[in-house]
Amino acid sequence: MKSIADKLIDQLPKAELHLHIEGTLEPEMMLTLAKRNNINLPYKSVEDVRTAYEFNCLQDFLDLYYLGMSVLVTEQDFYDLTWAYIERVHADGLTHVEMFFDPQAHTDRGIKFETVLGGIVSALETAQKELNISSKLIMCFLRHLPEEEAFEALSCACKHKEHIYGVGLDSSEAGNPPEKFTRVFTAAREEGFVAVAHVGEEGTAGNVKEALDTLKIERVDHGNHAFDDPDLVKRLAQQQTPLTMCPISNLRLKGIPTLSASPVKKALDAGVLVAVNSDDPSYFRGYLNDNYRAVHDALNLNENELITLAKNSFAGSFLEDREKQKQLDTIDNCVESIKRQTG
Ligand code: HPA
Ligand code: ZN
Repeated sequence: MKSIADKLIDQLPKAELHLHIEGTLEPEMMLTLAKRNNINLPYKSVEDVRTAYEFNCLQDFLDLYYLGMSVLVTEQDFYDLTWAYIERVHADGLTHVEMFFDPQAHTDRGIKFETVLGGIVSALETAQKELNISSKLIMCFLRHLPEEEAFEALSCACKHKEHIYGVGLDSSEAGNPPEKFTRVFTAAREEGFVAVAHVGEEGTAGNVKEALDTLKIERVDHGNHAFDDPDLVKRLAQQQTPLTMCPISNLRLKGIPTLSASPVKKALDAGVLVAVNSDDPSYFRGYLNDNYRAVHDALNLNENELITLAKNSFAGSFLEDREKQKQLDTIDNCVESIKRQTG
C-alpha cells in the first residue's frame, strides 16, 4: 500500500519553476527528429544516447545539450517537444509551469526566433485549454556568449511581450559572472520583464549576491552555494526570495556527491522559500515527482515538509496573488482528502 508521503507526491498540485524545455528532449524524440530533419548525430540508437549521458560537471552536460537540440528545426518540432513535456508532467500533478527556453542556441543555427517561440507558445496554449495547465515563459540569455548577442535576443523578445514574461541567465557559470550582463538585464527590466538567473550552481555565494544586487533578480535558480554564506541565507529567508533547486540535476552534474547532500532540507530549516524542480529531466533521468521522491527519501522529509515544498512552488511563482491562493487552497483540499482516505 502507498504511504501518505507517496500519495502526497503523486497527487498534490505542483508548479515547476525551473525547467528548460530543450532539456526535456527524450532520446526517442531526438532520433525521430534527426531523421525527419536530416540531421547527423553521433548516436545510432536510444542506448547510444543514454550511454553518453554521464557527466562530471555542468560543461559536460551543456556540450551534449547543445548537440541534442540541433535536431529541433521546425515550429512543429518545438510544438511536439513542448507537448510531450506537458503530457508527461500532467501525470505528475503539475498545474503550472514557468518554462525556460534558450533562443540563442537556435538562432545561432539559423532558426528563426518566431519558429521557436511559435511552437512552444502553441503547445502551452493547448495545455491551458485542454488540461487547465497555466504557464509563463522565461527567455534565458546564454552567459558564455557576449552581452551584445543577449541584446539581440532581447530585441526579438520585445516584439513578443505578450508571450514572454521574464528573462533568465543560463549556460556556463564559471568565468561568466552575473556582472557581465548588467546592462542587458537593466534594459530587460526597463522593458517590463521580470529577472531571474542561474547562480550558485557551480559558482559562489558571491555570484548569488551579485545577481540579487546588480541584475536585481526576483528569484534564484539553483542557489546551492548561497548556503556557504550564513548572512546571505538570512537575507534570502528574510526577503523570502524564492530558490528553484534541482536535486537530481545537482547529483548528475556532481555538484553534490549524494542526494543526502542536497541543500533542500537546509533551506527549509532556514525558512528559505525553496521549491523542487527537474531542470533538464531527460538528460538527468528524473521528472518533477522523481525529484520530490528523491529529496523525501534522501533527506527524510516529513509530510508537512512535502506539503510546504508543493506550496512553495506556487508561492515562489509569478502567478497573480488570487491565482496563487486558488492553487494553495487546492493543495489544502487535496491534503484533507488524502488524510481522510488513509484514516
Ligand atoms: N545550468 C546552466 N545552464 C543550463 C542548465 C543548468 O542547469 N540547464 C540548461 N542550461
Ligand atoms: Zn537550469
